[in-house]
Amino acid sequence: MYTPDKARYGKINYRKCGKSGIKLPEISLGLWQNFGDVDDFQKSREIILYAFDSGITHFDLANNYEPPFGSAERNFGRILHNDLSDYRDELIISTKAGYNMWEGPYGNGSSRKYLLSSLDQSLKRMHLDYVDIFYSHRYDPETPIEETMGALDTAVRSGKALYAGISNYPVEKAREAAAILKSLGTPCLIHQPKYSMLWREPENGLIDFLGDEGIGCIAFSPLAQGMLTNKYAAGIPQGSRAARDNTTLRFENFPPDTFDKIREYATEAEKRGISLAQLAISWVLRDARITSVLVGASSVAQLKENIEALNHPY
Ligand SMILES: NC(=O)c1ccc[n+]([C@@H]2O[C@H](COP(=O)([O-])OP(=O)(O)OC[C@H]3O[C@@H](n4cnc5c(N)ncnc54)[C@H](OP(=O)(O)O)[C@@H]3O)[C@@H](O)[C@H]2O)c1
Repeated sequence: MYTPDKARYGKINYRKCGKSGIKLPEISLGLWQNFGDVDDFQKSREIILYAFDSGITHFDLANNYEPPFGSAERNFGRILHNDLSDYRDELIISTKAGYNMWEGPYGNGSSRKYLLSSLDQSLKRMHLDYVDIFYSHRYDPETPIEETMGALDTAVRSGKALYAGISNYPVEKAREAAAILKSLGTPCLIHQPKYSMLWREPENGLIDFLGDEGIGCIAFSPLAQGMLTNKYAAGIPQGSRAARDNTTLRFENFPPDTFDKIREYATEAEKRGISLAQLAISWVLRDARITSVLVGASSVAQLKENIEALNHPY
């Protein structure tokens, strides 16, 4: 039987998500990798329960978190059911649809058909009546943005999601999406862009727009999938993300000066007496318009180190 730490809400700060009434922990946990059927279920469970014990109330999923697609939601649903069912009202659970999920013309993109059927599937996998945030995972140029936003509005009105979010939308599309959602009476709660010391694209107008509109911003891959830690300084260690089959972390996708930058940041971290991962997290949180930093972790030790970053503001 799991009993949560009674002191959990004194351990972490919560930031207001834009101008909404929702607060998110400064660090949230993402289940993209390390929570699939290929991973050790007990280890995944320990990470989730450690997060909750640390005051992390927000868990981020998507229909195709993996491998195989859907398994992170299924495993999370099992943990929710077995350990956290008494705490549903203390949790912000998000899911998304937009990338490849099932075969045929309706299992990818951002159509109304795909988003709403995918949301039903996600709820079943997690044994939930509703998710807190339902995201359009990406802007899809093949679908009118009105159709996608209409699907988010329906998800909220049907009670299957409490809030609507968008992810990976470039600033001009985020602007259109937010305006449509506002006109429908379902405001955009949050945007989820990639943002880290190695990927600063959101500084080209997106963060300004979100700040001005009062839309929250949760930054994903703040450690650049592990690049902003010391783990790859001397090659690719066994068991790391870069060593996985079909890895999503390919060094050739980063500019040639990446390792020089990482060494420079590592030196700065050392001067401050913190780890590179901690520097990278506190750096993202230096901007008050960032609601939360969405980290991944393959062990409790990593998550512990990452949470410790909150004691060392940038
Ligand atoms: N909306 C989107 O399109 C999108 C895309 C990507 C991610 N996301 C969300 O963002 C979440 C986080 O993404 P991410 O997993 O790429 O984030 P990340 O925090 O940049 O990378 C996490 C990985 O870095 C390594 N790591 C973490 N802490 C460490 C530490 N203290 N020391 C050493 N290594 C450490 C681990 O990899 P090892 O396995 O090598 O140990 C871990 O799995 C996802 O789970 C998902 O919820 C959203």
